[in-house]
Amino acid sequence: MQTLSPSSPESRSPAAVAQPAAAARTVAIDLGDRSYPIRIGTGLLGDAATYAGLPRATAALIVTNTTVGPLYAGRLRAALAPHHRDVHVVELPDGEAYKDWATLNRIFDALLGHGCDRRTVLYALGGGVVGDMTGFAAASYMRGVPFVQVPTTLLAQVDSSVGGKTAINHPLGKNMVGAFYQPHLVVCDLGTIATLPPREVSAGLAEIVKYGPIADMAFMGWLEENMEALRAGDPAALAHAVHRSCEIKAAVVGQDEREAGLRAILNFGHTFGHAIESGLGYGAWLHGEGVGAGMVMAATLSQRLGLVDAAFVDRLTALVARAGLPTAGPRIDAGDNAGRYLRLMRLDKKSEAGDIRFVLIDGPGRAVVRGAPDALVREVVEACCARAPVAA
Ligand code: NAD
Ligand code: GLY
Repeated sequence: MQTLSPSSPESRSPAAVAQPAAAARTVAIDLGDRSYPIRIGTGLLGDAATYAGLPRATAALIVTNTTVGPLYAGRLRAALAPHHRDVHVVELPDGEAYKDWATLNRIFDALLGHGCDRRTVLYALGGGVVGDMTGFAAASYMRGVPFVQVPTTLLAQVDSSVGGKTAINHPLGKNMVGAFYQPHLVVCDLGTIATLPPREVSAGLAEIVKYGPIADMAFMGWLEENMEALRAGDPAALAHAVHRSCEIKAAVVGQDEREAGLRAILNFGHTFGHAIESGLGYGAWLHGEGVGAGMVMAATLSQRLGLVDAAFVDRLTALVARAGLPTAGPRIDAGDNAGRYLRLMRLDKKSEAGDIRFVLIDGPGRAVVRGAPDALVREVVEACCARAPVAA
């Protein structure tokens, strides 16, 4: 690829993260007239200055969920008050299972119910589920209104809030209905990670770990040295991990906004991972958990194709385990398990005429997108699922 520059959080209260704004760092997404900044720092969410310079609009709608709203919507609403005369809030039910048409429609109900016009700014306050749905709503309400991502999970700060992919799920496939639609601003307030449950921190680490094998082995080495600090919520470690992840993603998206080629490498682990998510039913495994096991499966397939050696697969597997993530895929069918994986993976958006395209590692720090024989994929699925119990 081209230039890529080199305690239990559950017990913490949101008051613990009501810190003054610290000096923020900015990563630029360079997309011509759709360019925007990612601001990364602590205390940004509740600082009115964070939102200066956005399109002027009378109304704003904060889209959040029943978990994140009570923690952070009041603070965001107060910060937006100087910028918009009317700041409305809609709280969606929480969970991947609600990333669907019916829940999306609740955003349109709120917009129309409040008489919101085509200048209204949408603010996505939450994790990737809220962010993906709010982005899709912004892309389609009155044929497009501005929106801002305020990601509050680690996963959303390092991946889903950046790059303009928006979508909802379909019962037959993950993220199957959506649009490319860029936000005007991304606000990564690192303080919000303090209230994130440990399982969700681990899920976010999956999307951080992926950047090493596909683009930056020095970063993978740094992650090996700092994994415990990240899981403990160390502010300096989190700041570096979020910043470097956003830099890598910005470089990829800046070269291939609509995934004509290069951008697909950001889906390392996702072809297997999406099959796990839809195979088990949305929400059974977290997205990041599917990606964790999926990266091990994709790396194992890379090895079987002779692209990397076993030592590389072992190294990645160890890092995935230290992130607190599963390293074996679940059995998603009591009968032909590998066949079910194959059927689900054929629905992947990268598939061409029914041929699955995998993101594989063809050398440390380098990814390639290519097919693989079904028989070999079957072997890899069975080898990687061997230790997992049959799904209920
Ligand atoms: P999520 O949005 O479901 O959030 C995880 C959980 O954490 C939820 O229960 C949420 O309410 C809670 N939460 C969020 N912030 C919190 C906080 N600060 N404190 C306490 N609880 C908090 O899951 P996610 O992992 O953020 O995102 C996963 C979704 O992102 C999937 O749907 C996936 O497909 C999507 N995704 C999209 C892209 C993209 O490019 N658009 C990339 C990666 C993933
Ligand atoms: N999360 C993959 C992408 O944004 O392309």
